Amino acid sequence: MSRRIEDYLEERKILVERALEKFMPRPSGLAGDVIRAMNYTLFAGGKRIRPVLCMAGAEAVGGSADHVLPVACAIELIHSYSLIHDDLPALDDDDFRRGKLTNHKVFGEAIAILAGDGLLTLAFNLMTRYGLEGKVEKKALLRVIDLIASAAGYQGMVGGQVVDISSEGKDQDPTVVEYIHTHKTGALIAASVTAGVILAGGNEEEVKSINTYGQQIGLAFQIADDILNIEGNSSMMGKEIGGDEERGKITYPSVFGITQSKQVQRESIDHAIEALNSFDERAEPLRDLARYIIKRKA
Ligand code: IPE
Ligand code: IPE
Ligand code: MG
Ligand code: MG
Repeated sequence: MSRRIEDYLEERKILVERALEKFMPRPSGLAGDVIRAMNYTLFAGGKRIRPVLCMAGAEAVGGSADHVLPVACAIELIHSYSLIHDDLPALDDDDFRRGKLTNHKVFGEAIAILAGDGLLTLAFNLMTRYGLEGKVEKKALLRVIDLIASAAGYQGMVGGQVVDISSEGKDQDPTVVEYIHTHKTGALIAASVTAGVILAGGNEEEVKSINTYGQQIGLAFQIADDILNIEGNSSMMGKEIGGDEERGKITYPSVFGITQSKQVQRESIDHAIEALNSFDERAEPLRDLARYIIKRKA
């Protein structure tokens, strides 16, 4: 990984943090506990890959990062909700996330479930309010809201999570693992970068190509998560390792072995970069991000 992509990510992360701070409510009132829990996981750290991809998608077609920030932040809220629910005892039952105790360990299961619900719904407030301010083309925004809802819902992330959970301890099936990964993780990652392109006024050809790019890096991203669950360093990642095997999860390494999983990852990244062939140098950060995704250690 070049030094440049690390700097780029760090700089973009700061933009996202500032915007999130601006958008998030402060704990107050009778329901203050749930706001505290929402902020706890949202600001516990996190690479902010999805919002960064959304901004980079906009810039790849000549748009501005600032213009898509409310939507980029909304996606991070949805992602953070998914992590809170993913860690619950009924799902992966994990104790650490983003270097801290998981949400339910600090606030209890009921508040953790509600904090997830609060983040998911606030994301839709954020996006619709942005439309109401009149600074964005409404038709493009509606298309993006629909895209994100489908990517997060039963057709995407929720569907992937259902199959992930219901396949625990079952046969190692290549078709099933591909479904899980493209849905639980690939869908929201693809929607993040595609949303940026749509909001920046990209043409249909660009939208299609960027969606392919997003799906390919999304798959590679989740394979990296599987590999890190075996080979990673838990303090660097801020979460425990070894849980996938313990729970009998169907993962790429469990189905194909590590070597072949890394091969699939490389192929996905090649396909992703190929999908950007018709884009100019403004898509360079997207190419670098694709390469970063399989080299990441956290
Ligand atoms: C973790 O996502 C869960 C997956 C979908 C693989 P990230 O690796 O993006 O987690 P954060 O946001 O950096 O904590
Ligand atoms: C998380 O998948 C996917 C979502 C939260 C939608 P994992 O369960 O594999 O991710 P980690 O390893 O807990 O972050
Ligand atoms: Mg999980
Ligand atoms: Mg998990």
